Amino acid sequence: MRSNGYQTGFGNEFATEALPGTLPVGRNSPQRVAHGLYAEQLTGTAFTAPRGANRRSWLYRIRPAVAHGGFTPFNGAPAFHNDFGTGPVAPEQLRWNPLPLPGSPTDFVQGLYTMGGNGGPDAHAGVAIHLYTANADMQGRYFYDADGELVIVPQQGRLCLLTELGVVEVEPQQIAVVPRGVRFRVELPDGPSRGYVCENFGALLKLPDLGPIGSNGLANPRDFETPHAAFEDLAGQFELVAKFQGHLWRADIDHSPLDVVGWHGNYAPYRYDLRRFNTIGSISFDHPDPSIFLVLHSPSDTPGTSNMDFAIFPPRWLVAQDTFRPPWFHRNIASEFMGLVHGAYDAKAEGFVPGGASLHNCMSGHGPDAATFEKASAADLSRPDVIADTMAFMFETRGVIRPTAQALDAAHRQRDYRQCWHGLAAHFQPPA
Ligand SMILES: [Fe+2]
Repeated sequence: MRSNGYQTGFGNEFATEALPGTLPVGRNSPQRVAHGLYAEQLTGTAFTAPRGANRRSWLYRIRPAVAHGGFTPFNGAPAFHNDFGTGPVAPEQLRWNPLPLPGSPTDFVQGLYTMGGNGGPDAHAGVAIHLYTANADMQGRYFYDADGELVIVPQQGRLCLLTELGVVEVEPQQIAVVPRGVRFRVELPDGPSRGYVCENFGALLKLPDLGPIGSNGLANPRDFETPHAAFEDLAGQFELVAKFQGHLWRADIDHSPLDVVGWHGNYAPYRYDLRRFNTIGSISFDHPDPSIFLVLHSPSDTPGTSNMDFAIFPPRWLVAQDTFRPPWFHRNIASEFMGLVHGAYDAKAEGFVPGGASLHNCMSGHGPDAATFEKASAADLSRPDVIADTMAFMFETRGVIRPTAQALDAAHRQRDYRQCWHGLAAHFQPPA
């Protein structure tokens, strides 16, 4: 299955066919579909969701999605789950080194490693945050996630996502979003690969409103790319893996489920290049709140309060005067899981490396480390400074991110993380 290229726009009503004459005209489900195909609707929002939020696609495929064997538990990915525990959660600031690459053949699903989360798929609220490491293509194995849409953030190595609705290729500094329920498999063109995944149980990701920013800026809709239809007509002894209510299941399937010859609709995977983000900041003094870096968000039922925000910290100029230029010290009602795709992050002198991660939960203090504070407090502000070589991101959530037991016990956890703030001496000098 080859890439047939992309169509651009966010949430657009697309129409695409890999064989001419596949799509019916004037109706969705004709008595007989062209080329002997089946018609099937894939619905990602309530049938009666308002028109602007309603997402569904019509798929024209060789066999309907129901054509597979019975489900039994799948034990091939023991570190991938939604078990965030029910006991006490320490408000500890946490940081991790990159997850080591696997030593034995491991595909994308087998290599998923859950770091934490909140809420759950049954309530359609909350997130799970995972890492992945992999060194093998998914061969004869197809996966779908009924629990949430997947935001995939590669850090090392490209991913080729062969999905029901077409082929999505992403490299580090790009992201891919796979909607809830869409079946896919992953190939690794560069071999050993690593990255981050946010599994969004809540409302579908959308672009933020721009308010006084106006009609352009941040992530622009035309930079989102959705694949054209592409299909494979394959018979064989394959496996369909499903994530359903926090657990993994498998079923035999005697054909590739990537057999959608044409589709139309607005519920589909997409990719976005983070380097196209139009970064907006202060040109006088002080920092705006980090919401200025928002790429996509999953709204909650409370206006202005997201189930999940996906924000990035891309290359940018620092020009603010009489201003502490790195991110300030702060405590938030939200909880922040950060990762670093590329380069260095300006609030930490060392220890936060590409492929690593940090977690600062609700109201836990954090901010620049001691070395960064000293340097920035003495910096020459008469000249602009540039952060040229960086791409950090944040999964920020309304609910507390409960770290998994495996993340707390992991060998790659930095148990001395809080030492980075120990040099923050008191400089208070009251007047005599
Ligand atoms: Fe923060």
